[in-house]
Amino acid sequence: MELSEAESHFLETQRDFAQNALLSWFASHARRLPWRENRSPYQVWVSEIMLQQTQVETVQSYFQRFIERFPTPKALATAPLEAVLKLWEGLGYYSRARALHRAAQQVLERHQGRLPADPETLRTLPGIGPYTAGAIASLAFNIPVPAVDGNVRRVLARALALNDPAPGQLESIVRSWLPDQNPGAFNEALMELGALVCRPRRPQCTACPWRELCRAYALGQPERFPAAKARKPLPHYDVVAAVTIRENRQILVAQRRPEDMLGGLWEFPGGKRQEGESLEAALRRELQEEMGITVEVETQIEVVRHAYTHFRITLYAYQCRLIAGEPQCIECADFKWATLEDLRALPMAVTDRRIAHTVERRLSTEEG
Ligand code: ADE
Repeated sequence: MELSEAESHFLETQRDFAQNALLSWFASHARRLPWRENRSPYQVWVSEIMLQQTQVETVQSYFQRFIERFPTPKALATAPLEAVLKLWEGLGYYSRARALHRAAQQVLERHQGRLPADPETLRTLPGIGPYTAGAIASLAFNIPVPAVDGNVRRVLARALALNDPAPGQLESIVRSWLPDQNPGAFNEALMELGALVCRPRRPQCTACPWRELCRAYALGQPERFPAAKARKPLPHYDVVAAVTIRENRQILVAQRRPEDMLGGLWEFPGGKRQEGESLEAALRRELQEEMGITVEVETQIEVVRHAYTHFRITLYAYQCRLIAGEPQCIECADFKWATLEDLRALPMAVTDRRIAHTVERRLSTEEG
């Protein structure tokens, strides 16, 4: 994207200062993070996928476990998807894990098990968009391409006092400032500046290496840039789930279909309550539709509230008893009668994991 003459002039006159100030700040302030220690392209890739929607603090321990269990693209590609989802449990946005697994298989089949360096080729892999392709190409292979994530967008919008910069505009800005020598460090330093100093609220301008060039700082209102987007309130749904226990303390669980949200994860079967329906009636209907069984709804055992990206739910879990029919998968990928030990090993979303803990507690106190 073409920048205005005034913008180009500003970028050109500030280039040397922007590069030197940012790189020397990064050299002394970069956090020690597991994916920054003698990293391979594969480690950069895994960390960037995990960091897409998740905070650095949360990602660290997940990253270490993941790399220990799947140290190479080949190890990842040849593992069962369920093992990958299990290590991802609690990180959320599970489509990232499914895409990463498929991408590892493509890396093995099409690229001899080595991640390609070229951003265009990287973008052909599942789960790799423009940001992640730029991040891998620059951080892992030192190719001078932009990598603009939310942190970088905020830093640049403030530096140039832009209200609502377009992605192409931000990429042009980075391109004009990227040093030939060390583009990876420059991109990563920009992310770090956004995370540590140029934070969304109460930015630490006194600690900022770019204070002298920053237009938002000069205007005295760094927080005003970029302009906040109006957020609609999230819709809310009541969801019901059945904990159906048969003899030998086996519990009915179902696996979600791969193409659905939370695909591949295991859950206590159930679904959304419809308008005008009671929770109990919703549960009986869902078990009939999803698994072809008739259940009696006994007692409520847990209520879990959770917010996803586009909606919120309240999940009501009930102990149920199977009174007619044999479970079958009508609207699920698989089902099983799981022991408590099985339950612990299955990949589940956080909401269902909460219910599983409650079930475990109840069954062990029953025993005692
Ligand atoms: N966010 C995205 N990539 C990152 C990285 N390499 N270090 C810190 N935060 C990040």
